[in-house]
Amino acid sequence: MVSEFEYEKARDLGVPGNCIFFNGPNKSRVILEHAIDENAKLHIDHLDELYLIEEIAALKNKEVKIAIRLNFDTGYTEPWSRFGFNIESGQAMDAVWRISASKHLKLSGLHSHIGTFILEPRAYESQVRIMCGFLREIEEKTNFNIEYIDIGGGFASFNSLQGIYLPPEQVIPSIEQYAEAICDTLLEETHEHMAQGKNRPLLIIESGRAIVDDAEILVTSVVGNKRLPDGRRAVVLDGGVNILFTAYWYNHDVHPTKPLDGKPEETVLYGPLCMNIDVMRSSVMLPPLNVGDTLVFSSVGAYNNTQWQQFIEYRPSIVMVHDKGKTSVIRKAENLQTITSLEILPAHLKEPFPEN
Ligand SMILES: Cc1ncc(COP(=O)(O)O)c(C=O)c1O
Repeated sequence: MVSEFEYEKARDLGVPGNCIFFNGPNKSRVILEHAIDENAKLHIDHLDELYLIEEIAALKNKEVKIAIRLNFDTGYTEPWSRFGFNIESGQAMDAVWRISASKHLKLSGLHSHIGTFILEPRAYESQVRIMCGFLREIEEKTNFNIEYIDIGGGFASFNSLQGIYLPPEQVIPSIEQYAEAICDTLLEETHEHMAQGKNRPLLIIESGRAIVDDAEILVTSVVGNKRLPDGRRAVVLDGGVNILFTAYWYNHDVHPTKPLDGKPEETVLYGPLCMNIDVMRSSVMLPPLNVGDTLVFSSVGAYNNTQWQQFIEYRPSIVMVHDKGKTSVIRKAENLQTITSLEILPAHLKEPFPEN
């Protein structure tokens, strides 16, 4: 979880607080107090958060186990240096010293999330090596015993990234390849640890898109056809980048829901927004489409329902398909009332316009 909202949502769904790994740079005092009471795993992003947790722990007179988020150069990924403490500059070790000076805090975990849609398993090999090296340094220099290392997520889903011309099957590593890179390195790097009779740190992963991306599809309908001045065929759909944010960087698979006659032709698929950038696919071969024909986009399960926008259009319902084709609506479509229920019109603006 990375925010107050996500923490509360997980708790509301029945996830016990002590099973929540709480990341994110913006944790309010209120949610931190709550998370500390529930023994959630707190992953600290910056020193001000560290001071706040220390203050709360002191007020509660409680020993609080924490982890710190780390950033570093794996040599394979662009460092996400805005999150956590940097290892190379010494900032991360400084944070460890600061924690060791505290009466109420105990460092028990290390976290890092090195990026997303990572196509190179060696990035994880490097990540685990660097984190284990840092873990050894901490245990040599302080009394802390690091119980777990959390390597975040970033494993690619089977979508086509724009700009990569090989099909996903040829460029996306299998989960086994990722696992081998991570586990072989962890075993190697903790070998001495084991020889000294210590426990191997628990390995935590926070896989997102690789797990949920293929759990969802988007069904859209054709609302019109047109010819662009350069001769290409264009089709306007009733769903655009407002509900399919990932269309900006994936070439989502797109298929008609029933067999269609006619010769396939290069087609641009636009959404319904009044913006030029509302392009669902910039070039895809499709047969002629009529108004009302339906097209399915897949895989769209990662981040679209969390990043979609109420912009120009209402957002549609979400339907869950169960075994044997049974369906349930799990989120209702929006309507005017959904939107206006949160709005407050100041009293003086409610007065009718004076008549001329
Ligand atoms: C801290 C953290 N862990 C895990 C993830 C999941 O990432 P992915 O979907 O790339 O696996 C995210 C996503 O932003 C994240 O911020």
